Amino acid sequence: MIHERIDDEHMQSIDLDIPVTFKHRVRLTKDVFLAENKVLGGLFRKDKDAKVIIFVENEITSHFPALEKELLNWFSCHSHLSLTIIFRAEGGEYCKRSEAVCREVMDAIEQNKIDRHSYVWAIGGGAFLDVVGFAAATAHRGIRLVRFPTTTLAQGDSGVGVKNGINLYRKKNFLGTFAVPYAVVNDFRFLYTQSKQACREGLIEAIKVALVKDGDFFHWIERNVDELRELSPSVLEESVTRSAILHAKHIAQGGDPFEMGSSRPLDYGHWAAHKAEQISDFRLTHAQAVCVGVALDTLYSSKKGFLSEEKAMRVIHLLKKLGLPLCDEAFEVRNTIGNLALLDGLEEFREHLGGELTVLLLHDLGQGMDVHEIDGEIVEECLETLKSISIKYAQ
Ligand SMILES: NC(=O)c1ccc[n+]([C@@H]2O[C@H](COP(=O)([O-])OP(=O)(O)OC[C@H]3O[C@@H](n4cnc5c(N)ncnc54)[C@H](O)[C@@H]3O)[C@@H](O)[C@H]2O)c1
Ligand SMILES: [Zn+2]
Repeated sequence: MIHERIDDEHMQSIDLDIPVTFKHRVRLTKDVFLAENKVLGGLFRKDKDAKVIIFVENEITSHFPALEKELLNWFSCHSHLSLTIIFRAEGGEYCKRSEAVCREVMDAIEQNKIDRHSYVWAIGGGAFLDVVGFAAATAHRGIRLVRFPTTTLAQGDSGVGVKNGINLYRKKNFLGTFAVPYAVVNDFRFLYTQSKQACREGLIEAIKVALVKDGDFFHWIERNVDELRELSPSVLEESVTRSAILHAKHIAQGGDPFEMGSSRPLDYGHWAAHKAEQISDFRLTHAQAVCVGVALDTLYSSKKGFLSEEKAMRVIHLLKKLGLPLCDEAFEVRNTIGNLALLDGLEEFREHLGGELTVLLLHDLGQGMDVHEIDGEIVEECLETLKSISIKYAQ
């Protein structure tokens, strides 16, 4: 559609729509690189002679020493794609904290003459995918990215998202872009080399999305909490699948895939989490910080009278039954004028989003509501309550 008008003798305006549709391809499978698995064959069916460069996080290479051989074997059976190099690099939050890993990825893309018709495959945790994704999205203004998330959190949330980023000025994801990946492939085999505790903690994003979007899923998690705690494969994989689908659907159908507005429901519990990660100098993992952030915003929702106390306590007890943290000293650190340093995160959260401060709270289990201010005194009360609940559980 073109809207053209002559406003006056000095000005002519032309407003043009640029319609663009993206396909968000999400695949859930096991052992994706085995020759008999059809997922990748289906995704690249139409390609002819496209180059592929693969970035694998070091931690994955050490847990899966046969992976490179499997990849080489897969490419030998799919000769319409040409593998240039398998490049290994450091993952974990460390790789987002400096430009070093991003630079290594960029260098490899440049040296191997990867172009906009090639593919970058990234195999690793959420942090590694964010870095490789950022390099891929900006090199040549965007190379097609295929993500293979390897943690519970990344398979259920960040891996199926459309963002990437690295930290700068000690701020999470200060540098980054929105870029829909060519595809996301969740291979469940990767989930089982995480430590049991990290695997459980990664479930927090599934609980988060259930709380803000899908009450039935939350009730399902409650009913299956014992098996989830034991990480029974069928229940773990179903949780990751339901979480990934809810996240992907929200992005595709929620009306704001590139977060132009001020509301960001998938960031429930995150205003405090991002700040606490920074305060702890990233001793706290994203998953651990989100556990406390979700507990905090749930209790806060009830103290403000938006959510019944009974429902809030169901959430808190679920987190505890799963063995997830409810408090951490990073949430209690004071700034130079004696206020909770955590509260400075509210302004940083607003700044990252732009516009008016908008924080999602809970109205019901499965239903969120936006608010535009947070009461610091109630936050302090909530943190105290969470600490005493934690102590009770520990006894
Ligand atoms: N882009 C987005 O939309 C988005 C959304 C949410 C979170 N994130 C980001 O994702 C990051 C968190 O992701 P994460 O929780 O995957 O953490 P992570 O990538 O830091 O991984 C956690 C740890 O697990 C290791 N690891 C990865 N896969 C493993 C496996 N299969 N077995 C054993 N160890 C493994 C990593 O080396 C690391 O030490 C944060 O930086 C967060 O900001 C991004
Ligand atoms: Zn998160």
